[in-house]
Amino acid sequence: MDIVVGVSGGIAAYKSVQLVRLLVKAGHDVTVVPTEDALRFVGAPTWEAISRNPVTTSVHDDVARVRHVALGQGADLVVVAPATANTLARMAAGIADNLLGTTLLATTAPVLVAPAMHAEMWAHPATRANVRTLVERGVHLIGPEDGPLAGGDSGPGRMSEPEDIAAAALRLLAPQDLTGLRVAVSAGGTREPIDPVRYLGNRSSGRQGAAIAREAADRGAEVDLVAANVDAEVLAVVRHPRIRIHHVGTAAELSQAVTSIAASSDVVVMAAAVADYRPAEESAHKLTKEEGTLDRIDLVETEDVLAALGDRRRAGRAPAGQTLVGFAAETLTDAEDRRARARRKRERKGVDLLAVNRADAAHGFGSTVNAIEVVGEDGSVVAAASGTKREVAAALWDAVVAQRGA
Ligand code: CTP
Repeated sequence: MDIVVGVSGGIAAYKSVQLVRLLVKAGHDVTVVPTEDALRFVGAPTWEAISRNPVTTSVHDDVARVRHVALGQGADLVVVAPATANTLARMAAGIADNLLGTTLLATTAPVLVAPAMHAEMWAHPATRANVRTLVERGVHLIGPEDGPLAGGDSGPGRMSEPEDIAAAALRLLAPQDLTGLRVAVSAGGTREPIDPVRYLGNRSSGRQGAAIAREAADRGAEVDLVAANVDAEVLAVVRHPRIRIHHVGTAAELSQAVTSIAASSDVVVMAAAVADYRPAEESAHKLTKEEGTLDRIDLVETEDVLAALGDRRRAGRAPAGQTLVGFAAETLTDAEDRRARARRKRERKGVDLLAVNRADAAHGFGSTVNAIEVVGEDGSVVAAASGTKREVAAALWDAVVAQRGA
């Protein structure tokens, strides 16, 4: 896709070199449009080398190709990073006396701005009003962050990190193919209390489920995320206006939440690691070796939430066309053995798609990367992905879209 990165004159311009690098690395054609001031911080040769495209600031260059509007017309996305207080004011007023200004007026593509300035300038009523105007017009905002600023000050005004800006930019380029769908996702791992200090649990961090929820929301879905014991740090990625989070602890709580939400969901993805057994009784007192109460814990089976959803659907008690997706983490090292087990599990649970991942030290539980294969209705592998949990989530939704369209 064609991305224009506008750079205005702030010290944070040096961080945008990394932003441009990341966007190019993601396979996009990036044209940098610096203001004259920005070139005092980072020169044109740097931008040209990193973007692999020519850099101009003047509306009088390349007049034959009407460059002053062509860049904006041809862009799929415009990112302004850093956006100084001055640039935000000019954007709000529609001033177009440089190439960045004309590009912004000529574009109908999404616009993402990453402000950077001193805290006082960010807090000034003029800047507040300009930002409000831009946001009301549909401009997307990332940051600024709270932290150290140039000159030793500290406060809100620091430009977001290039990695975060790149991620936000790539999300804006995502297809909106889940618009209108209600989606339920479970994430994390349940904990079944043994006594006031102990529980039966598992190593699931909830990262894969959180990535699945976020990817769905970015592609237009309304998402209910049922989070079982997921850390706040992991939940930070699901801060999104279309994601509602429901916190649960035990398998029974998860079952209740998922079952009630699933009754109005078009797609249910069970990424949570749900305990298969729980202690028959939760002791009100701490079990001890001294009393001999700790050497044996009686277990009872929990409800299989996913299989129950499969049954409801078979009985016609689920929304028409509901798609059910299960997950299975397997330690089997042979890929064909894993697929065979995934096929059996998919049929047993009565679901459309079953994603199987290898659970080992390098992948899956607790890790930031994952590798999955998705088994479909005819037992074949309909999708495979490895990489970040976000990349895996994207492949999973591609498989769901294909399944629903088939
Ligand atoms: N699952 C569930 N309720 C349970 C257990 C599992 O909904 N009580 C869901 C998980 O969220 C996952 C899928 O079922 O999407 C597969 O879970 P897994 O533990 O691999 O399956 P089991 O039925 O426990 O099979 P086995 O232990 O034989 O591998």
